[in-house]
Amino acid sequence: MRIFLDTANIEEIKKGLKLGVVSGVTTNPTLVAKEGISDYKSVVQQICALLPEGDVSAEITAEGPAEMLKQAREIAKWAPNVVVKIPATAEGLEIISKLSKEGVRFNMTLCFSVNQALLGALAGAAFVSPFVGRLDDAGHDGMMLINDIVSIYKEYGFETQVIAASIRHPLHCTQAAQTGAGIATVPYKVLMQMMQHPLTDSGIARFMADWKSVQK
Ligand code: E4P
Repeated sequence: MRIFLDTANIEEIKKGLKLGVVSGVTTNPTLVAKEGISDYKSVVQQICALLPEGDVSAEITAEGPAEMLKQAREIAKWAPNVVVKIPATAEGLEIISKLSKEGVRFNMTLCFSVNQALLGALAGAAFVSPFVGRLDDAGHDGMMLINDIVSIYKEYGFETQVIAASIRHPLHCTQAAQTGAGIATVPYKVLMQMMQHPLTDSGIARFMADWKSVQK
C-alpha cells in the first residue's frame, strides 16, 4: 500500500517527503481554506513540483456541469502529475467519462458506496476515494466499504486505484493495508503516529542508558 499525505500544508509535505515513504498528496477545499490559501493553482503547482513523480489531487470547486468541465480541463493543465479530484455525482461521472478518454486522470472523491465506486471505475477514474472516517462518524463501518470495493475491483480487473481516505488514526492505515487498498491518504499527524511505538522509545532509552553505563 502506498501512502499519500492529506494536506495542503507545504511544510508538512516537505517533512513527510524527507521520510521517503510518501508518493502523493491529496488536497480538498477545506484543507486549502485551513491554510488560508487564496491562490490554489500556485500552491498545487508548488506541491506538484515537490514530488514530480507523485500524484497530486486538486479538487474541483466550480458548480454546474459546464463550469465543472471547464475547471477540470484547466486543473489538468496545472502540472503533468496533477490529478483532478471530482465528487461522486452524476455530473462528476459524466466529466470523468468524457475527459478520461482524453488522458485526464481523475480521483473520484466523496465516495460512500460500492455503486459509486463501481460507476467511477467504469467511467475511467484513475483513483476512487472512499471516506472511511466520515462513514465511521455516521455509525457505519467505513473499512468494510474499502474492503468491498477492493474485492469487487479485483474480481472484475478494474485498474482504478482505491485511496482509503478520511483516515483518522493509525489503526485505519493497518486495516486499509489488510484490505489490499492501493493507497491510504493520511494527515501528517497520522503518518507520524504510524511510526511511533512506546516500546521503541523505552527500548532506545534502555539501550542508551546501558551503553552509557560502561562508557564511564
Ligand atoms: C480525501 O482525499 C479527503 O481530502 C480527506 O481524506 C477527507 O478527510 P476528512 O473526513 O478528515 O475531512
